[in-house]
Amino acid sequence: PVEPSPENKFSFGLWTVGWQARDPFGEPTRAALDPVETVHRLAEIGAWGVTFHDDDLVPFASDEAERERHVKRFREALEETGLVVPMATTNLFGHPVFKDGALTSNDRSVRRFALRKVMRNLDLAAELGASTYVFWGGREGSEIDAAKDSYAALERYREGIDTLAQYVTERGHGLRFALEPKPNEPRGDLLLPTVGHMLAFISTLDHADMVGVNPEVGHEQMANLNVVHGVAQALWQGKLFHIDLNGQHGPKFDQDLVFGHGDVQSAFYLVDLLEHGPLGGGPTYDGPRHFDFKPLRTEDPRAVWASAASNMRTYLLLKERAAAFRADPEVQQLLASGKVTELATPTLAPGETPEELLGDTSAFERFDADGVGARGYGFVELDQLALEHLLGAR
Ligand code: GCO
Ligand code: MN
Ligand code: MN
Ligand code: MN
Repeated sequence: PVEPSPENKFSFGLWTVGWQARDPFGEPTRAALDPVETVHRLAEIGAWGVTFHDDDLVPFASDEAERERHVKRFREALEETGLVVPMATTNLFGHPVFKDGALTSNDRSVRRFALRKVMRNLDLAAELGASTYVFWGGREGSEIDAAKDSYAALERYREGIDTLAQYVTERGHGLRFALEPKPNEPRGDLLLPTVGHMLAFISTLDHADMVGVNPEVGHEQMANLNVVHGVAQALWQGKLFHIDLNGQHGPKFDQDLVFGHGDVQSAFYLVDLLEHGPLGGGPTYDGPRHFDFKPLRTEDPRAVWASAASNMRTYLLLKERAAAFRADPEVQQLLASGKVTELATPTLAPGETPEELLGDTSAFERFDADGVGARGYGFVELDQLALEHLLGAR
């Protein structure tokens, strides 16, 4: 069960294994990877899909002939290996032109260039069969409040996403958008910093129906938030279009660790939610299990592939442990006695009105608040059972 296979829908970005480990303090420690080699290696280790930023595949400022050559080689590697391209995205953060943002740059000419750069890659994404297009606003933000009119920036963000949604609709590209929040880094403060902000923003869009979120585990944790809650809300709103799985040691710089490294208990509950749905019943997630991790700067090329495989192995181990947790009769008993599953029962009876609730003296006049208040829920025993399943002790 811990051997990954295409049915698991595991995918990786070219930029993940391909990260050369340049950081703000040091030079790269690894050579660049050829996307064609990456496709072959990913297929060998059991991945199902590969994703890319436009510039990961076709270097910035390539001419048409070079572009065609890069795409052709990549497409051949896909055909040889059977790997699919479930998602693509745009690099709107690397080039100096984007230093003050892309869709929300103060400079209108940069915003127009950014739209064109995205449109060009949307065509390629559709051509390669992608169904999801991710937007991560890495430079959409500021360090200085006077430097960014964030009211106007949100207007421009909305204009940008609406324009691009209109474009894919008119072109008949079968793409949905998944917007990825992050609280900070590389900018001091990013716009739309959390899943909650993003969901609120999406509700204002003209094409809101085709736009969802791409939560990244570490990004919610950088904001000191509970990623399982964020993902559950996205699922509840029908907006979990994609997910970036990785690991993080609490609120600090974006670590992009291997999935489960740093926050294994949260990873356990996250896999349980994705695979089995809410505890009281509800939808599961059937999209790609996409790993957005960075092999540590200390690692050599051999370890890059070992750490890529570790993401999938950890996911499958957690999936196995979560299934055992759900099936455990003692767990089921604690879920019932702790009333965890009772939460799925509506608070009002079918058809009951507020006036009828007023007439129910058992709900208030005769309600034993002290007695109910004295009753324990037994959540600690439940968490201990989860931990024991996680540790392989049950
Ligand atoms: C991060 C982000 C990025 C984006 C990716 C897609 O770690 O800061 O997750 O990795 O997901 O660039 O645009
Ligand atoms: Mn990401
Ligand atoms: Mn990240
Ligand atoms: Mn990342």
